[in-house]
Amino acid sequence: MSTETGATTEPRHSTIYLLHDVVKNREAKGVAFRLRVPSLRIDRGEKIALIGESGSGKSTLLDMLAFILQPSAASAFRFRPEDEQEPLDVDACWQIGNLNVLGDMRKRHIGYVMQTGGLLPYLSVRENINLSRGVLGLRRDGTVEHLAERLGIANQLKKRPDALSTGERQRVAIGRALAHRPAIVIADEPTASLDPYAAENVMSLFLGVAEEFNSTVILASHAWRHIKELGLRRLAHRTTHSADSKLTETVVSG
Ligand SMILES: Nc1ncnc2c1ncn2[C@@H]1O[C@H](COP(=O)(O)OP(=O)(O)O)[C@@H](O)[C@H]1O
Ligand SMILES: [Mg+2]
Repeated sequence: MSTETGATTEPRHSTIYLLHDVVKNREAKGVAFRLRVPSLRIDRGEKIALIGESGSGKSTLLDMLAFILQPSAASAFRFRPEDEQEPLDVDACWQIGNLNVLGDMRKRHIGYVMQTGGLLPYLSVRENINLSRGVLGLRRDGTVEHLAERLGIANQLKKRPDALSTGERQRVAIGRALAHRPAIVIADEPTASLDPYAAENVMSLFLGVAEEFNSTVILASHAWRHIKELGLRRLAHRTTHSADSKLTETVVSG
């Protein structure tokens, strides 16, 4: 896929993420991994899919986009969740240790769906969905109930997560990620623990609700088969291994 360097250096008005030459190096047990992002632009309202096998760096990229993980190096890493704001220089925030700004941006503008939900076991479904609103001090306005209705879990609001099926738990996790109406929702293999039928069902519910909430979607999956009909833009992605198997490198662009 072309990197269109000229086009991506000029942020459009609606550009949410703009990355240039972002690198993350990781190492575990003498085996090194490097993720390189020569150029990536994500515009408002896009639905993005990042597809790759296990260990190819999907979570690494998503965690950088959610400001959970600091890049090892970056020429540019800008984030503008709302058109009227100036773009935030994310890399500068990391460099100078401005973690409060990154944390506030994450809470306000990003929803995150983890592979296995990450629900709090001692809270009810309603309280779990409301968590993302609670930390922002948003008042109750029916959003939680509306989401529960849309996601088919309206009858489960009083239950604890351990009384739900895996598919229902993932729908609660999706509700929580969207309840504060974030500009961006990031989902890390949200249906990997479901059977193919449930996975398809949950995925189309997720994309439908994200669209209703005008959220930009960034989704990682190891299986393109389930989602290729759903109109996502797939990021170009190439993984190579060094001859001695000591370095794996993934290059992502889009
Ligand atoms: N916390 C960590 N510390 C060191 N290396 C890690 C860590 N998490 C993941 N890695 C390594 O980074 C590489 C990419 O992992 P990851 O981004 O989790 O891939 P994916 O999500 O595609 O399965 C792997 O080689 C993995 O071992
Ligand atoms: Mg992962």
